[in-house]
Amino acid sequence: MKQAVARAAIEYVTPGEIIGVGTGSTANFFIDELGAIKDRIKGAVASSEATAERLRGHGIEVFDLNDVQSLSVYIDGADEITLHGEMIKGGGAALTREKIVASVARQFVCIADGSKLVKTLGAFPLPVEVIPMAQAAVARRLQTLGGEPRLRVKDGQPVVTDNGCFIIDVHGLRIADPAGLEAQINDIVGVVTVGLFARRGANVGLLGTVDGVKRMT
Ligand code: 5RP
Repeated sequence: MKQAVARAAIEYVTPGEIIGVGTGSTANFFIDELGAIKDRIKGAVASSEATAERLRGHGIEVFDLNDVQSLSVYIDGADEITLHGEMIKGGGAALTREKIVASVARQFVCIADGSKLVKTLGAFPLPVEVIPMAQAAVARRLQTLGGEPRLRVKDGQPVVTDNGCFIIDVHGLRIADPAGLEAQINDIVGVVTVGLFARRGANVGLLGTVDGVKRMT
């Protein structure tokens, strides 16, 4: 299903342009599809070091966002998405660069398998990227929002993002007002980015189902 939506997303790639590319297993399928039409695009802006490496592996030129004025499209996966295009992202710890690259794009195309579609966001723990020295202070503030914040750890060590920061995953939230919560968490000092993409969500959702790719706008 991930491969099917990745293939369907190629339709949104404008010939001759630079494409914004997300991070994760679905985005990886998309990069592989992009590799097959690489001569038709100018290049890509990557939302993570891992994505940049995979793009280069396909011979696709990777541009620094500072050298690009605008992008026609940003294509990425999600951990959860609603019918309104609000998303939780950051399962792959790339949320900050994903939000930055997406903000420069005129259109956000979300590609996901159908299991990611939810009525209410929050069953997937909400990732929050934080400055390491503020980790405990931010966690205390997040607790007051009703969730259970847990520092993301791998092999006994905090996960460090491409930006040198930590991730706190907030468990047990039921997010009734995604845009409001996004603003509220953004306001906490020490937070770099919250993995809620609601104030600016997806313009198009391509969902992989057993009946084929379904498009939601
Ligand atoms: C990475 C992300 C990914 O888009 C999200 O985790 C979905 O990943 P996958 O395509 O592997 O299911 O936000 O930070």
